[in-house]
Amino acid sequence: MMKILITRKVPEALLKRLYELPNVEVIMFDKEDEPMPREQLLAELKTADGVFSNLSDKLDREALEQAEYLKVISTLAVGYDNIDLEVAREKGIKIGHTPYVLTEATADLTFALLLATARNLPQGQQMIKNNEWSSWSPFGLTGKQVYGSKIGIIGMGRIGLSVARRAKGFSMDVLYHNRSRHEEAEKEVGAIYCSLDELLEQSDFVVLLAPGSKATYHMIGTEQFKKMKNTAYLINSSRGTNVDEKALYDALKTGEIKGAGLDVFEKEPISADHPLLELENVLAIPHIGSASIETRQEMVEVTVSNLINGLTGKELVYEVPN
Ligand code: DGY
Repeated sequence: MMKILITRKVPEALLKRLYELPNVEVIMFDKEDEPMPREQLLAELKTADGVFSNLSDKLDREALEQAEYLKVISTLAVGYDNIDLEVAREKGIKIGHTPYVLTEATADLTFALLLATARNLPQGQQMIKNNEWSSWSPFGLTGKQVYGSKIGIIGMGRIGLSVARRAKGFSMDVLYHNRSRHEEAEKEVGAIYCSLDELLEQSDFVVLLAPGSKATYHMIGTEQFKKMKNTAYLINSSRGTNVDEKALYDALKTGEIKGAGLDVFEKEPISADHPLLELENVLAIPHIGSASIETRQEMVEVTVSNLINGLTGKELVYEVPN
């Protein structure tokens, strides 16, 4: 008998293929909208052969070393910075993830965040809710014009290219910085490769899409904010750890940059007393980049397939290179 652990409540109808597996016990955490408590996760992992996990599970050395039978971690995400790859490699545990299927939903959300931040949408809604909309105003709630402005994309991968395509529809100039040149982006949308400093100095919207890793930890901090225009915005829908939040707070407070649209935070979830939320020029949303119904369903499909393939000795649909 094999055991599959599902660490988060997912609609059972989407998991049929797991429940139909012969000689498999499926254990699913049963609380809505809550991650599995750490103690329970560690205890369940000890006897699990496969885990259907997500980015709120910290699969670190402590968790994985005791997972004696674990063959596959299948995570409901493209990012895997919550998993200790070194221990997984040592123990021969395969890791599956969900690239490709979430590209367009995440690009949509990134662009929505950019537009909403630039044009003060939350402030507008709040004004109406507070009954403060007294009349049409010539310069009330005016924001930065997105059409024809300059976007700088840090991390030009699949999602970066999809954001660049949307930017092109708004006649934006597209700059990008990446570990390597992205020929398709250059050809298709005329994206211009530049150094990080050049991108920071020239962009009206700095959009962060680099994966979270040791190499990208706090890649945007005090020095980088100084290089940005005072009129520029930071949009982050990648990982919160890519930005030094204390430095971001200072840059926003002192007017070093104009505003920020944030889908991700250094330590998630944040609560209402997080310092960034005191600031008028921050739009914060709770890590919903891939959260369209269609995309989440596809992500579950891929996660299930990765899990089944991993348990039955087949190649995963999308395996994290280890
Ligand atoms: C991911 O997939 O890594 C996103 O951050 C969550 O969908």
